[in-house]
Amino acid sequence: ATAGRLSGKRVLVTAGPTFEDIDPVRFIGNRSSGKMGFALAAAARRHGAEVTLVAGPVALPTPVGVQRIDVRSAQQMHDAVMAAIDAQDLFIAAAAVADYAPVHTSSHKLKKSEASRSVELVRTRDILADVAARESRPFLLGFAAETDEVAAYARGKLQAKGLDLIAANRVGVAGSGFEADENSIELIWADGERRFGPAPKTRLAQELLDEVVEHMEKRSR
Ligand code: PMT
Repeated sequence: ATAGRLSGKRVLVTAGPTFEDIDPVRFIGNRSSGKMGFALAAAARRHGAEVTLVAGPVALPTPVGVQRIDVRSAQQMHDAVMAAIDAQDLFIAAAAVADYAPVHTSSHKLKKSEASRSVELVRTRDILADVAARESRPFLLGFAAETDEVAAYARGKLQAKGLDLIAANRVGVAGSGFEADENSIELIWADGERRFGPAPKTRLAQELLDEVVEHMEKRSR
């Protein structure tokens, strides 16, 4: 009954981790597999949307009918999102973007010695916050990966970043969050919330997207 609810709409999804290179063989990364974001891209496509998926380094096949743009670093993901953001109706930020990147990336492999060493890091740009700050912006679904007080921190991010919806994700427990095939999410908006899962990420993505579409339709009425 919900098929085609996003037909004629454009949906942009970020998924996976970003890798911040220290030298040609070492990087700073995280445990995101991209499964959640890829499942959401596939679900949006099944709803008839024109879907662009900006993917960090992951080992997943491209969902059928989805336009995929591969990136490595947070800066590259930022550039790819900004190049595609015009004319999008919905932006889903499921990627686990690095918050810090090395100040310098060495072009040769760093040699080890007995001394300890440090890597100076700078903050990366917040892609979701930059999209939210635009004068004309799509409907925004952010994610929040938290180990404690999941809902409270997520509600803070919803307000701080000026999002429409945020999917709060418990991480650091088995069967949810990074790498797992299943997930549990609390979807939070200004005056409500709804739990999803535990369920396989593919099914959870469909249910989550149905709820997101409800909110988009309410907004445009
Ligand atoms: O990929 P999987 O293995 O399937 O795991 C799924 C997931 C746990 C990665 C995913 O569901 C999830 O929770 N993604 C967000 C993880 C995260 O890094 O959250 P955050 O609290 O650091 O960031 C908050 C929001 O801002 C996110 O929507 C994030 O995409 C966005 N962000 C953050 C930093 C940044 N520089 N740019 C951003 O756009």
